[in-house]
Amino acid sequence: MARSNYNSDEAVIKDLDVGQLKRLIQYLKPYRKQLWLTIALMFAATIIDSVSPYIVQLSIDQFIPNRQIGLLIAVALVYALAVVFSYIFTRLKIKLANRTGQYVLFDLRRDLFDHVQSLSLNFFDNTSAGRVMVRIVNDVNTLNHLFTNGFVNVISEVSVLIVIAIAMFIIHPKLALVTLASAPLFMTLLILTRNEIRRRWREMRRKVSNLNAYLNENLMGMKVIQAFVRQKENDRIFHEVIGDVFKSWMDAIRLNAAFGPAVSLVSIIGTAIVYWYGAKLLAIDGVTPGVIISFSLYLDRFWQPVWMLSNFYNQLLVASASSERIFELLDQKPQIVSLSKQRLGQIEGRVEFKNVSFHYDPEKPVLKNISFTAHPGETIALVGETGSGKTTIINLLARFYDPVKGQVLIDGQDIKHVQLDSLREKVGIMLQDPFIFSGTVMDNIRYGKLDATEAEVIEVAKAVHAHDFIVEMENGYYTEVNEGGTRLSIGQRQLICFARVLLSDPQILILDEATSSVDTHTEILLQKAIDKLLEGRTSFVIAHRLSTIRNADRIMVIDRGEIAEVGTHEELLAKQGLYHQLYTVQYEYLNAV
Ligand SMILES: Nc1ncnc2c1ncn2[C@@H]1O[C@H](COP(=O)(O)OP(=O)(O)OP(=O)(O)O)[C@@H](O)[C@H]1O
Ligand SMILES: [Mg+2]
Repeated sequence: MARSNYNSDEAVIKDLDVGQLKRLIQYLKPYRKQLWLTIALMFAATIIDSVSPYIVQLSIDQFIPNRQIGLLIAVALVYALAVVFSYIFTRLKIKLANRTGQYVLFDLRRDLFDHVQSLSLNFFDNTSAGRVMVRIVNDVNTLNHLFTNGFVNVISEVSVLIVIAIAMFIIHPKLALVTLASAPLFMTLLILTRNEIRRRWREMRRKVSNLNAYLNENLMGMKVIQAFVRQKENDRIFHEVIGDVFKSWMDAIRLNAAFGPAVSLVSIIGTAIVYWYGAKLLAIDGVTPGVIISFSLYLDRFWQPVWMLSNFYNQLLVASASSERIFELLDQKPQIVSLSKQRLGQIEGRVEFKNVSFHYDPEKPVLKNISFTAHPGETIALVGETGSGKTTIINLLARFYDPVKGQVLIDGQDIKHVQLDSLREKVGIMLQDPFIFSGTVMDNIRYGKLDATEAEVIEVAKAVHAHDFIVEMENGYYTEVNEGGTRLSIGQRQLICFARVLLSDPQILILDEATSSVDTHTEILLQKAIDKLLEGRTSFVIAHRLSTIRNADRIMVIDRGEIAEVGTHEELLAKQGLYHQLYTVQYEYLNAV
């Protein structure tokens, strides 16, 4: 059966990795105080709680038979007060534990995002956005339980176990031994089912991962889906995907559901032992009815921590799998780093490529020994067939990648030796695919220069002729545009991006011209906007518009990673070479449409 090929990215649960957990615990360090306070609160509540069966015992064995009503009432009051305190402590503990847990997740996410932003583009070439998202969202989420309850609970649950066991042994050692004899039975039950339950929940999460992936792909490709009328087929696939989620959930819950009653069964067996054996000891070993009742009450509280502890182990396994993926991402090193602390100061804008060779993939050379110099203020048009390496040249100039061989120099300085942010301040890039962020038009233009005033924004928008259409929108500059700018036409998106670049006022401008054809009116607007942008800057334009190419000071024809021809429009035409060929094809094409 055909199924879309969504790659599920589920953490593989292996054995417990102590190293990962240690690293994870580092994140708790800043919250050490809160953590201890939480544990103390929980411990206090536990102690208070475990006193109550003993009070019951005293009442039954002494106060009631001896008709000590005053004492009974006093004890009842103390007990009521204790319950109130226990409630308050527990509430505080829950709040505190959740806050600490969320702080840790906050810190982790912040670190991850910071780090991802610093990674070089080659990382994103090899890693899909979905994978990065799963790590920052889901994997961090799976740590939630561990940080909120796991670590804290384990300490307090163990203390509950110890306190209860001690209490039982103090009250009646023999009876305690016999009742706790059912513990091994319970433990066996836990161990047997735990692995299977874990396997089933993992399967369920994998299915949910698939659901996410499938949904994501479909929402992103909605236009194509509707254009190709794929809804029916996609419905069928979607039914299958959610059917899987349903089935795996039911599988998991079935065993889980069987587990709860089994726990009750064991605890009932334990209570039965208390009553049966207690009754036998009643006559001979000084066991009182109060002892039997308090024992059964203690026993009730005993299983809860045992069950929690086995759960905790599970949490640890899941967390160590997720943290492995989180740290793998955090350990990625950015490839593009500055070799010195020097900043790129004021520049004239001379750009030089010296014998530059480059490949993304060692098997496939993309640029071969490229050398050229662009003088300050010059506009260079890059033309060539698709895939010839034009975008790659500007990727190297903006230092998204480093040359494999050779150097890229700005005003004589190798760009590897200047701070990356100082380089990017000087180099403005208008990408082939104009990107609009969610927010207002104003936010979008201001994107690269947050301190720009409204007047400055309007000024650049006017300069690139975007002002007119912007003020026509319902809220003018404060109109919300969706991520991707779907409510704007492609030409409008480009104009907004032009305004964004112009506002940041770079000395060196890179323009990867979009191929999309727009109507003549917009075409003229765009052309004027481009002319405005190019004024007084060293510019590289990957040009598709004849007008842009003609206006350039020099044209470089790139052919399979090499500079095939250089010259002005007229010179190159006269040469009757590659440019002439490209030009005639394009010219004829343009005439045809
Ligand atoms: N991130 C990448 N990873 C691997 N290979 C890449 C990557 N980007 C581009 N390439 C390859 O490098 C070659 C040059 O690509 P480049 O994007 O520079 O072409 P271009 O001249 O800009 O083409 P177009 O006119 O279509 O934009 C192509 O063969 C392309 O497949
Ligand atoms: Mg390109």
